[in-house]
Amino acid sequence: MIENKVVLITGVSSGIGRETAQLLAERGARVFGTVRDLGRADPIAKVELLLMDVTDDKSIKDGAESVLENAGKIDILINNAGYSIAGGVGRDEHRGSAPVVRHEFLRRAACHSGCSAIDAPEWLRPHR
Ligand SMILES: NC(=O)c1ccc[n+]([C@@H]2O[C@H](COP(=O)([O-])OP(=O)(O)OC[C@H]3O[C@@H](n4cnc5c(N)ncnc54)[C@H](OP(=O)(O)O)[C@@H]3O)[C@@H](O)[C@H]2O)c1
Repeated sequence: MIENKVVLITGVSSGIGRETAQLLAERGARVFGTVRDLGRADPIAKVELLLMDVTDDKSIKDGAESVLENAGKIDILINNAGYSIAGGVGRDEHRGSAPVVRHEFLRRAACHSGCSAIDAPEWLRPHR
C-alpha cells in the first residue's frame, strides 16, 4: 500500500518523525524528511533530507517546492515537527513560541476534524 507513495514528513532529526521516516522508507515509500540543520542531521537510510523551518513560510514553500520538483507529487504529508508544551500557553515561559504554537494548533485542529483541507497549505491543494 505504501510502496512508491511520496511522503513528506517534517522534523525527522529525532523522535517520532525520525522513526516514522525510517519505517516508511523501509516499507518502500519515497520519503522526504525535513530538518532545520542539514550539517548536523544524521542521515537516515533511503530518506532524502531537506531543509525546512515550519515557523517560516518561505522555508515551507521552498522545501515543498523542492519535493514537487524532484518527485512530482506529495501523496502523504506528515506534519510532525514541533515540540510539546506543558502548562498554559499564556504563561511567561512560552513567550516567543507563538509561531510553533500556531502551527501545533492548526495541526491539532485539522486532525480533530478528520485531517481535512483546513490545514492543507496552498501549495499542497493541487496535489491532493
Ligand atoms: N512524544 C510525545 O509524547 C508527544 C505527545 C504529543 C504530541 N507530540 C508531538 O509529536 C511531534 C514529535 O514529537 P517528538 O517527541 O518526536 O519530538 P522531538 O524528538 O523533540 O522531535 C521534534 C522534531 O521537530 C523538529 N522541529 C521542532 N521545531 C521545528 C521547527 N520550527 N521547524 C522544523 N522542525 C522543527 C525538531 O527538529 P530540531 O532537531 O531542529 O529541533 C525535531 O526533528 C511534536 O510535534 C510533538 O508536539 C509528541
